[in-house]
Amino acid sequence: MQIETVERMTPVMPQALPSILVIDDEDGIRDSLSLFLNKKGYDVLQASSGDEALRHLKSRNFSVVITDISMPGDRGGLEVLQIVRDQHPDTEVIMMTGHLDLNFAIDSLKHGAFDYFKKPFLFEEVNLSIHRALERRRLLAKAKELERLRHRQETMGQLHTQFMISLANMIDAKSRYTRTHSERVSGYARYLAEELGIGGKDLRKVVVGAKLHDIGKIGTPESILNKPGRLTTEEWEIIKEHPACGAELLKPISFMEPYLPIIRSHHENWDGSGYPDGLAKDQIPQIVQIVKIADYYDAVTSYRPYREPMSYREVVETLEGEIGRGFPEDLVRTFVRMVEAAPWEKESRESLSV
Ligand SMILES: [Fe+2]
Repeated sequence: MQIETVERMTPVMPQALPSILVIDDEDGIRDSLSLFLNKKGYDVLQASSGDEALRHLKSRNFSVVITDISMPGDRGGLEVLQIVRDQHPDTEVIMMTGHLDLNFAIDSLKHGAFDYFKKPFLFEEVNLSIHRALERRRLLAKAKELERLRHRQETMGQLHTQFMISLANMIDAKSRYTRTHSERVSGYARYLAEELGIGGKDLRKVVVGAKLHDIGKIGTPESILNKPGRLTTEEWEIIKEHPACGAELLKPISFMEPYLPIIRSHHENWDGSGYPDGLAKDQIPQIVQIVKIADYYDAVTSYRPYREPMSYREVVETLEGEIGRGFPEDLVRTFVRMVEAAPWEKESRESLSV
């Protein structure tokens, strides 16, 4: 048997006037309040019972519902309130009561009513309450929209970052000597950053920036990247373009902005002899220095066609030889201490990802 489902669609149309549903079994109050609100410029619809109100609520959306609490029939104002809260979360509800005992009205606030009035009331007071209800509704809608945009932006940023990391991995994979290089650099850089007490956003910059640091090699010919022997001066000049190329490549993407310093400056030296900008000492941000030393460590401990990976003793000697030239002394000392402990040998590769 084919089951036919009919969805009641509320047409999305620009509403020039805020719409108000006035529910009261007393004709006089309902008519006079409706007339007053009409004159104030609202689009007003009336209902003389809870059941009639529900029929209206099924056919359209209202900005505000004003309902009497006690009405004849199965559905009084509190039932209407419950249904509006469940099915129309963006609609504000204002209660009216003729009871001397206000407990019902106070109870309605606990169940999500915006305000209540005890009859007889001044219409102008109701009008002020409607104003406040509409303002709250507007602010809530704005907050929801901002949250939606923020979430979308965050998702877009994550997708962009993921895409760029995949691209960087592809570049690493172009050469069998640098396969997973950026992932390893990211792991070492993370350990060092944590050792230095870096956390939060800066730690993420280090971890993701390290994964992306060589992305500019996308513009470096494969014949140079994969050359089995030492590079000529001209080939070195081409290789040296990759930090600036990478930064230029990612510059137009706003989400990549936090990682640009690492990409552009990871070949700058502490003594100012690096490239592309010849930065020195504190001109090189700490997060860049961290990735730079991790990059250096991975290069000297990896196999190259023209040399074997360095031993632990050689690594330490080479790093210490770089003090004052490539790196500041305290960074080298901390890194060497970390290499001695080699935390990456104790933990699984999965734990390195952010
Ligand atoms: Fe590089």
